[in-house]
Amino acid sequence: MKLNIALLAGDGIGPEVIDQAVKVSNAVAKKYNHEISWSPALTGAAAIDAVGEPYPDETHAVCEAADAVLFGAIGHPKFDNDPSAKVRPEQGLLKMRQKLGLFANVRPTFTFPSLIDKSPLKRERIEGTDLIILRELTGGIYFGKRGREDNGDTAYDTCTYTRAEIQRLAKKGFEMAMSRSKKLCCVDKANVLESSRLWRETVQAMEKDYPEVTVTYEFVDAVAMRLVQWPNSYDVMITENLFGDILTDEASVISGSMGLMPSASVGTKTKLYEPIHGSYPQAAGKDIANPLATVLSAAMMFEDFNLKEEAQAIRDVVNKSLSEGVVTEDLAEGGKSYKTSELGDWLAKNI
Ligand code: IPM
Ligand code: MN
Repeated sequence: MKLNIALLAGDGIGPEVIDQAVKVSNAVAKKYNHEISWSPALTGAAAIDAVGEPYPDETHAVCEAADAVLFGAIGHPKFDNDPSAKVRPEQGLLKMRQKLGLFANVRPTFTFPSLIDKSPLKRERIEGTDLIILRELTGGIYFGKRGREDNGDTAYDTCTYTRAEIQRLAKKGFEMAMSRSKKLCCVDKANVLESSRLWRETVQAMEKDYPEVTVTYEFVDAVAMRLVQWPNSYDVMITENLFGDILTDEASVISGSMGLMPSASVGTKTKLYEPIHGSYPQAAGKDIANPLATVLSAAMMFEDFNLKEEAQAIRDVVNKSLSEGVVTEDLAEGGKSYKTSELGDWLAKNI
């Protein structure tokens, strides 16, 4: 297969983790006779510094023309500490999600056998966890009406959803549930929020089209508790943008590290694959960040091209590295650790 992949390294540790995903993908391509051409493009603070815009039109053109986008991370502290900044790196990611129509964010949570005891949660609670949080990505409070009133002393952000936006996300959730354990949990706050009541009403109306799927409805506050208490009780979960953002960071605790969690964003055009972690500026340039979330995001990409063996080869080599203790500092517990680039080389060699 011939693949053209847009490569958006972004900020902080982005370029370092992306480099490793490229090494591993190239090794897979070589082994299975595929040809990957990489098309780098600017995004985030790096793009603001270069052209004054976090998601320039040229970058969008590269993404649209590509078969998929592999993305590193976005964000820079110089913007975080300046609430008055008009242009922010994160806007690049939001604009990209919107312009590429990436309305569904697939965030799987699973455990690695060799890391179970690294989780702060008890082994018997998390063993066997295999759930997917399907986060709506182009609606809700992230994209609602916002502003200031009262001479700047009052600020508001509004959460808006249309029935159609909920339906297209929920449809993916139902389909995913059908291909798995036929369990779907709709996470909302329907006891308080009108937008959540529309979610619940919309999903309820869709149940008849998927009679085999058992749907449960739970409030997000209760889910925040149950997710770490009984992660095994969940399979496919659907939820709105902000709830999904928060719950997926929480869910990463189950796996043992944010540095391990991949994601795929899917929608109407090119799909995007990215780790769920941020740009980790404290580690930028130090060659210490864990590249596995990005490497596993590349595995999700191969899977979506229907290259299942290739995806499995990546997952296998990641598992091998973890069980043999070939790990970056965050997982080394004071023992021997590998540099980001060394781990990438090791993975590529062992594919
Ligand atoms: C994520 C991130 C982003 C989000 C930020 C960087 C805009 O936290 O992908 O989860 O909130 O969606
Ligand atoms: Mn987040």
